[in-house]
Amino acid sequence: MVSIRKATLEDIESIHLIETLIFNKGSYPLFVLRQLYDISQDYFYVAEEHQQLIGYVLGNVVKNTNQGWILSLGVHPDARGKNLGRQLTEQLLETLEHELSTEICLTVHPDNTSAIRIYESIGFINSTTYDAYYGANEPRLLMKKTLMSQPFNT
Ligand SMILES: CC(C)(COP(=O)(O)OP(=O)(O)OC[C@H]1O[C@@H](n2cnc3c(N)ncnc32)[C@H](O)[C@@H]1OP(=O)(O)O)[C@@H](O)C(=O)NCCC(=O)NCCS
Repeated sequence: MVSIRKATLEDIESIHLIETLIFNKGSYPLFVLRQLYDISQDYFYVAEEHQQLIGYVLGNVVKNTNQGWILSLGVHPDARGKNLGRQLTEQLLETLEHELSTEICLTVHPDNTSAIRIYESIGFINSTTYDAYYGANEPRLLMKKTLMSQPFNT
C-alpha cells in the first residue's frame, strides 16, 4: 500500500535519485535538496510503497505576500498513472491552504500534459506564458490557484 507522509532527512538521498532519474541535467543537486529540506520541510512530502520512495512534492510559502509555491513534483516512471502525482499535489495544497496563502503558484512546461491535467483539475489556471523562464528554449507556464481564505493579518 502506498503512503503519503512528510519527508525526513533520511529520505533526501532517495529523493535525489528519483530527481536525477526524472530531470537528468535539470535536477536539483543533492546539496540543494538538503538545503531545501532545511527551509521547506513543512512542505515536503514523499510517497512510499514497500519502504521504497516512489515520489515526492516540495513547496514553500513567501511569508510577506502569503503566496504558496509548488516547487517540484516527481513520481518514479515505474509508479506513474496510479494517481500518486495528484495525491502528492493535493497533500501539499492542503498544507499550503492551511497556512492561509492567498494564492498558490507553480511553473510547468507547456507540453507536460499529465502535470497540467493534475493542476487544472484542482483549480490552477494559466496566468503567464514565459518563452524563456529558465533561459533560452525553456518555456514555462506560470499557473496560479486563488484561494478563498484571506491572511489573518489583513
Ligand atoms: C507529472 C507526474 C508527477 C504525474 O504523476 P502520476 O502519478 O503519473 O500522475 P497521476 O497518476 O496522478 O495522473 C495525473 C494525470 O495525468 C494523466 N496521465 C498519466 N500519464 C499520462 C500520459 N502519459 N499522457 C497524458 N496524460 C497522462 C492521467 O490520466 C491523470 O489525468 P486524469 O486524472 O485526468 O486522468 C509524473 O508524470 C512525473 O513525475 N513527471 C516528470 C516530472 C514532472 O513533470 N513533474 C511536474 C513538473 S511541473
